[in-house]
Formats: sequence, structure tokens, C-alpha cells
Amino acid sequence: NKLSIIGMPMDLGQMRRGVDMGPSAIRYAGIVERLKPLFDEVHDLGDIPIGRPEVVVDKESNLRNLDLVAEKSALLADKVDNAVQSGAFPLVLGGDHSIAIGTLAGVSKHYKNLGVIWYDAHGDLNTAETSPTGNIHGMPLAVSVGLGHNLLTDIGGYGPKVKPENVVIIGARALDDGEKDLIKEIGIKVYTMHEIDRMGMAKVMEETIAYLKDKTDGVHLSLDLDGLDPNDAPGVGTPVIGGISYRESHLAMEMLEESKIITSAEFVEVNPILDEKNKTARVAVELMGSLFGEKLL
Ligand code: ARG
Ligand code: MN
Ligand code: MN
Ligand code: MN
Repeated sequence: NKLSIIGMPMDLGQMRRGVDMGPSAIRYAGIVERLKPLFDEVHDLGDIPIGRPEVVVDKESNLRNLDLVAEKSALLADKVDNAVQSGAFPLVLGGDHSIAIGTLAGVSKHYKNLGVIWYDAHGDLNTAETSPTGNIHGMPLAVSVGLGHNLLTDIGGYGPKVKPENVVIIGARALDDGEKDLIKEIGIKVYTMHEIDRMGMAKVMEETIAYLKDKTDGVHLSLDLDGLDPNDAPGVGTPVIGGISYRESHLAMEMLEESKIITSAEFVEVNPILDEKNKTARVAVELMGSLFGEKLL
């Protein structure tokens, strides 16, 4: 088994600079050394070139950096596509969550029925019409189910990438009104913090795995570090108190590993400028350890 690590140092999907340094912070936290024992081969493919483009708000759609996000997402999609083709497990390091648009465009063409686990405080289900901010990092899940600007939904030349009934959101606690309506309308399964508190993470993951296992032929894990509580993961641009704990997150990753359903993953929104001594990047690497089969004993 083979792992391909791809850095996506993009901060164009939101307004807080620094998240473009996420891939560096995660490498500095020792990702390659940590994951090497868990694979036959670990290849760090480096970063997708983003440069320092100037921020522009699209006049017609009001989306911040629409053209740039579309252009860079297509580069990521290609790289991820090639990794999957080479037989590797693609692991993408963000970057803000808009990078999921490119990751899913690269992954989903290899599956008939891709499942997605969206581990996040947010739904990222906004469109230009419902977005309170115009930030594309609040939109990648909507884009991936086919809703949003066609420059984004058509990346890779096909779409939608995912069916709403193949998506599970875990950790939600900051959903905008338009997102709540959309969740009900198109039927996305959501475990909010209420369900996690009430049922416990073990039951949430058991149900999630059972829900996705039979109807999907691959499952992508899109893990936004702000899904965790800001005490455990402070280095994120849009923290929301009352999140998933460090221990609960390890349990979730361990259960996913046992289930063998995960076929690709990304860890996003790590912003070392807002962090405490690279804590959030270190947490990301530790969770990857559990996801890929580290055992306590
Ligand atoms: N819902 C808010 C918005 O649309 C916040 C999104 C935060 N997304 C994230 N990937 N951190 O702007
Ligand atoms: Mn930057
Ligand atoms: Mn997110
Ligand atoms: Mn989030």
C-alpha cells in the first residue's frame, strides 16, 4: 500500500491569510516520519503552485476569488486523479476548505458512488445566494453535490461529484439558515454536536459506517480542523466553541480505520499564524496516525 501526500497551500477561499502555510506546518509536525511505518511507500508530492495572486471579488456572482479558486482547483484535481490512478491513497493537506472542490473532482471520477464524511463545525453548503460572506470555503460541499457557480461545479468536466444521500456531516454546530434548509431539502445526514453529546462518538461512527458501507464504493474523509473544539485545535480561521474533543476525534479515526471504508482524505484549515506552537498541525498528524492504523498497544 502506498500513500501520496499532496500540499494545497491555498487561502483564497476566505479572508484570513496564513492558512496557505497549513501544508508546511503539517510537514513540520512530522507527517512523513509518522506515517512511514504505516505504509509500504510514502511519497510527498510537494505543493500545488498557488503563487501570490491578488484577491478579486467576482462582480457578477459576488464570490471572492472565483476564477482563481476554479483555476487552482483544477490543478489539484489533476494531481489527485493521477495519485489515485497510480494506486496510491491520496492525502491532501490544506489550505482552506475550498480545496475540497478540487480533491473531490480528482477522486470522484474513480467511483460510481463516492461517499463523503464531512468532519466540520460548518456545513460548507452555501451557494452565492445563501452565503453570508462570499467566501468559497463555506461552499465546497454544496459545489460537490452540484450546487453553485458552474465554474466550480464543472471542474474536471463532470458533475455532480457526490450524491447528497452519500454524505454524512459530523460535528456541525454553526449552520447558516440557508444551509439548514438545504440539508432538509436534499437529504444530507448530519450528526450535530447534540447527537455526539447524546449518543456518544462510538455510536455516531457505528451508524455513519453502517450508513455508508453498503451503498458506496469509496469514502472520502474531509476533515476540517475546526470540527474539533478550539481548545484542542486553536489554529483555525473560523473557530466555534463546543466542538468535538481530541479523544472523540481519535476514536472516530480509529473506527474509520477498522472499517476500511476510507479511500481518500484531506485535512484542512490549519492556520499556523493563529495557532499555539503548531498545536493544530500536530493534532492533525496525530489523527492521521489513528486514521492509518497506529495502535496504542
Ligand atoms: N458558513 C460560513 C460561511 O459561509 C463559514 C464557513 C466556514 N467554512 C470553513 N470551511 N471553515 O462563510
Ligand atoms: Mn497567503
Ligand atoms: Mn469546512
Ligand atoms: Mn469549518
